[in-house]
Amino acid sequence: MLNTQHQVRIWDLPTRLCHWLLVVTFIVAMLSQGDDRYLDIHVLSGYVFLELLGFRLIWGFIGSHYARFSQFLFDKKAVWHYLKTLATIQRQHFLGHNPAGSWAIFFILGLGSIVSLTGLLTLGGEEQHGPLAGLISFSLGSTFHEWHHMTAWFLFGFIGIHLVGVLIESRLHHENLIKAMITGFKSTKNPASSVHRHEITALIIVVVIIASIGSAGYFPFIGPTLPKNALWQEACGECHLAYHPTLLPARSWKRMLAEQHEHFEEDLDLDKETLLALQNFSTENAAESELTEAAWNISHFTPAEHVPLYITQTSYWIEQHKNIVDDIWQHPDINFKGNCEACHLDAKQGTFEDFAIHLPDM
Ligand code: HEC
Ligand code: HEC
Repeated sequence: MLNTQHQVRIWDLPTRLCHWLLVVTFIVAMLSQGDDRYLDIHVLSGYVFLELLGFRLIWGFIGSHYARFSQFLFDKKAVWHYLKTLATIQRQHFLGHNPAGSWAIFFILGLGSIVSLTGLLTLGGEEQHGPLAGLISFSLGSTFHEWHHMTAWFLFGFIGIHLVGVLIESRLHHENLIKAMITGFKSTKNPASSVHRHEITALIIVVVIIASIGSAGYFPFIGPTLPKNALWQEACGECHLAYHPTLLPARSWKRMLAEQHEHFEEDLDLDKETLLALQNFSTENAAESELTEAAWNISHFTPAEHVPLYITQTSYWIEQHKNIVDDIWQHPDINFKGNCEACHLDAKQGTFEDFAIHLPDM
């Protein structure tokens, strides 16, 4: 009997493009995670990932035959039947997604959406960046950060399972599914009609992604704009940097202002009115305000009974600077530890973003 094989296009171009770009952006996002220096790359890959995901969800309703969700909406029984018969001669062959694969896709799309969403929430809260900037507090942002982290690794694991599934199915049916996702074609004994290629839609995807990367451009993480106070600037910026109030708890500022006549052997000699204004400004914007990552950490990691007068004696500060060698501290541009400006270009703004750290040339 003649065993003619038909080459049939199963996956249209947008589906394939979207699939592989999701792979690329996910890998980039995973490689750039965990280190704030690569945060811009991480966030950009996250945005593109989200765009692709959005497209794939829409394409699941309006795309070509095999890309539609309705084509792979299998019920539980079908999935069990498929898995049970997988190792037997009765195993079924599907041109599009098989039942187990279909569930994997739904799961990956759902999980991917949660990862993207928690990423946006983290970005808005912790960095005050992106569409949700200003709407979420730092501490809420860091809660979402944990979720983002957890769901991303979960997704990573699930993609591993998906890959194992693809390899098993490829072996059992002697067809290279990875190649099919690249070329779009599968060979089959039963004649079936090819789907349209949809190259215009694919072109639109490429244009939208390039345009969105282009319009994002380079976006350094400059952090939130913190409240300023002219009086604070004037009274506290005379001898050293006017340290932003977010850098110590309210109780510290209270004590420091109460002891203003013996401010590290200096007499600040502030009048009552000024003192009151400084007290209000520092209490409202102290570490407890959690306006920045540093504020959050200082507020959380300074024991309640500890009323530090030195920022440089808080456990958070010490922890952050423990790797800086003595040679650097002795550099003539630095002089003393409280000279934050020497290494933090944004010390005046009080944001202390990683992007703005700059050690003096040795
Ligand atoms: C007349 C000069 C002078 C003025 C004005 C002044 N300070 Fe100071 N400040 C000092 C000196 C001196 C030190 C001690 C530096 C050291 O020991 O390294 C200091 C240290 C500090 C530190 C500790 C820095 C660290 O290393 O962690 C803080 C916080 C601080 N000042 C806050 C203020 C505030 C708030 C004001 C305004 C209300 C103010 N200072 C105004 C002289 C001044
Ligand atoms: C000798 C240079 C130097 C000085 C002076 C200095 N820092 Fe830093 N700071 C650094 C470096 C380098 C890091 C990054 C450490 C790391 O990530 O391992 C850092 C990290 C930090 C961070 C954490 C940033 C983040 O997001 O991880 C904060 C907050 C911070 N510094 C605040 C201060 C404050 C406030 C002062 C002044 C009281 C100060 N630093 C003085 C070099 C300095």
